[in-house]
Amino acid sequence: MKVISIVGARPQLVKLAPIAAAFAGTEHEHFIVHTGQHYDADLSDVFFDGLGIPDPDVHLGVGSGSHGVQTGAVLSALDPVLEREKPDWVLVYGDTNSTIAGALSAVKMHLPVAHLEAGLRSFNRRMPEEHNRVLTDHCADVLLAPTEEAMRHLADEGLKDRAVLAGDVMVDICLKIRDDVLAGKHPAPVLPEGIDPSEPFLLATLHRPDNTDDPERLRAIVDSLAGLPLPVALLAHPRLVARAAEHGIELNTGSVHVGRPLPYAGLVAAVLASAGVVTDSGGLQKEAFLLERITTTIRPETEWVETVDTGWNVLVPDPHTLSADEWAATVTRAVPTADPGTPYGDGRAAQNVVRIMEEWKGGSRHA
Ligand code: UD1
Repeated sequence: MKVISIVGARPQLVKLAPIAAAFAGTEHEHFIVHTGQHYDADLSDVFFDGLGIPDPDVHLGVGSGSHGVQTGAVLSALDPVLEREKPDWVLVYGDTNSTIAGALSAVKMHLPVAHLEAGLRSFNRRMPEEHNRVLTDHCADVLLAPTEEAMRHLADEGLKDRAVLAGDVMVDICLKIRDDVLAGKHPAPVLPEGIDPSEPFLLATLHRPDNTDDPERLRAIVDSLAGLPLPVALLAHPRLVARAAEHGIELNTGSVHVGRPLPYAGLVAAVLASAGVVTDSGGLQKEAFLLERITTTIRPETEWVETVDTGWNVLVPDPHTLSADEWAATVTRAVPTADPGTPYGDGRAAQNVVRIMEEWKGGSRHA
């Protein structure tokens, strides 16, 4: 069986690591296409090196652009690659512009498509990720759902026959790297200047267009972080840095200490060293949950509802609408005492994915 994985953005590289490792243990051919959506070393190269992922077989080098330009560039660059390679499966990941472009290109060439992390929904149509994931689910042949909740969403949309519960591959990689970090196999992370890892601090990230692109909203969120009673290590995504500079907003202010994005092991180590996380990232909400750190999410909703149901994650859409005391109390609240369970699977999702693709080879179940 020949499988082409199409990836392009940071969270997809994290998910690719356990999948590439699972395929490496089989006779199947696994071919990697990097679209080039993320091109900064901090967002791309360090993940290949740090997670032991084989170099991409093809790099499309599409770079940044509006949604249409970026998606269209991936689409047109993929056609000749898929035509030449003739895979048995095209595997797309998550919900980025690279995901929808990969799925669309494959489906138009009559190639079976598998969607990893299928069935997640925010029900927020302002999010580009929501369009990407809904459209990808509806054109893919097999839907690899990470959770029971995702399975329910797929059934509600009439996609039950194509949906399979695979578990979440992020558990596979997160727990493995956690164990390596705790065993001292990785160097200490480079935290922002002014953060002392032996003292309590909060780890923060912010990159969603809804939070970064409106200057008033961005300013209010940065002010809320700046006023917190603990130092805040803000690992700044290039979009955040670019928008803040455009709007004349100083990020390094009050409690906030700005640093660069971290490689994956560095991020895991930083979460473990922190007293809690403040973020708008989907992946980080779940990583904090798996690493047993409380999270406060600056969004009105989350796809990872299990993190909220178990009390580890609290949604605060507009921190500036809370009083300074309420906001500080929220981000520094006590850890929940109830057992969080294992809503994201047991850490063997990547092997499940390989097995499901074997069973569904050709695009429909035959085993
Ligand atoms: C993308 C995904 C988002 C995911 C995020 C993880 C879409 C629609 N969104 O958002 O779901 O959570 O990746 O990081 O696909 N830039 C750089 N260097 C880079 C990449 C981006 O400077 O290597 C800057 C560019 O100015 C670009 C902006 O960041 O315009 C946004 O990048 P883009 O790939 O469009 O989306 P992300 O915000 O990273």
